[in-house]
Amino acid sequence: MYAQNYLSGFGSHFATEAVPGALPEGRNSPQKPAFGLYAEQLSGTAFTAPRAENRRSWLYRLRPSAEHPPYRPYEGAPHFSASALADPLPPNRLRWDPLPLDEEPADLIDGMATMVANGGPEALSGCVVHVYRAARDMERCFFNADGEMLFIPQQGRLALATEMGRIEVAPGEVALVPRGVRFRAALPDGAARGYVAENYGALFRLPELGPIGSNGLANPRDFLTPVAAFEDEEGEVELVQKYLGRLWTTRLDHSPLDVVAWHGNLAPWKYDLDRFNAMGTVSFDHPDPSIFTVLTSPSETPGRANADFVIFPPRWMVAEDTFRPPWFHRNVMSECMGLIRGAYDAKAEGFAPGGLSLHNLMAGHGPDVASWKGASEAELKPHRIEGTMAFMVESGWPFRPTRFAMEMPALQEDYDAAWGGFPKAGLPA
Ligand SMILES: [Fe+2]
Repeated sequence: MYAQNYLSGFGSHFATEAVPGALPEGRNSPQKPAFGLYAEQLSGTAFTAPRAENRRSWLYRLRPSAEHPPYRPYEGAPHFSASALADPLPPNRLRWDPLPLDEEPADLIDGMATMVANGGPEALSGCVVHVYRAARDMERCFFNADGEMLFIPQQGRLALATEMGRIEVAPGEVALVPRGVRFRAALPDGAARGYVAENYGALFRLPELGPIGSNGLANPRDFLTPVAAFEDEEGEVELVQKYLGRLWTTRLDHSPLDVVAWHGNLAPWKYDLDRFNAMGTVSFDHPDPSIFTVLTSPSETPGRANADFVIFPPRWMVAEDTFRPPWFHRNVMSECMGLIRGAYDAKAEGFAPGGLSLHNLMAGHGPDVASWKGASEAELKPHRIEGTMAFMVESGWPFRPTRFAMEMPALQEDYDAAWGGFPKAGLPA
């Protein structure tokens, strides 16, 4: 079950209880919460953040989350780390084939491969793109102290049991787990692959709509946040956390997913990308991809995102006298792209679902020869791009690939060849 309307101008406030009477009325921190539950505030922003940005929730749980032994280094998940990054950073355009699924069966945590990263958790700034390949349900629980995690499945559903309720997210949907929220992921369809955008910076939010008006792009009512659900389970449970770029583990004698009721405006959610109300030109010229922004994490410089999450969904192309795919461009922002399904309209081949590409700042890119030729000669009747869903994590800071990403066989050696073979323009004699 879901409640709707999560991102409604940050004004949404949810109140949900899995047991009637568990949620206090008129108090956040009563002297004695019902049933002996423990009250805990989970902050997503500083206490004194402006009201419009302030996010926090109150959790009422069976045991305090403070009750745990010391954490010690976690030895698994060998590639879930942004600490070993390529240095020097080559200015080359990079592209990866889909990472294979047939390695050692791993759960979501051990199967996480950090691909590109910028900023850092101590600076509370920057973002990371991971690819996960999982074949086993998680038995342990996990939380990320470094940032919020946006899950972007490409193959197979993820069933996320979180402290604040349950979310099932399928390819074509995305789900966000806030910083600090404990969760466990099961795989209802077996083997799963997808992407994670981890955001160290300001919380993802809906972009301003400006002259578009009060409707359009991702509409707030389509963000679904879960109702309270909890586990009352004794027995040893491993709890892994990501903290300042490294993984740490401890053991509890009970499930940490024991929140019986909660209220507030910080919560997980999911969103169906097919609900995105895409806007586009109805006259001429290719608009900037910012019209496809689903979520933005602003930086301290207005208009320059710490991270934008942008999609390229099915849509009509009607522009007249226009090269309809993206023309060549060199961007001061850095672009990391993935593909959920279908094909992307600026690349004829080589960019497969599950793959990844990186075009960092000032890297010239755009259509390959086949796409350029096709779009230059196409009859410009209304045309619907079907069956596709690409996404981009665009950041104001260049992404550094991990050394693991730079050394893996999936890294394409000949990506530059995509821009070879263009005929020279012919000036009049
Ligand atoms: Fe681009």
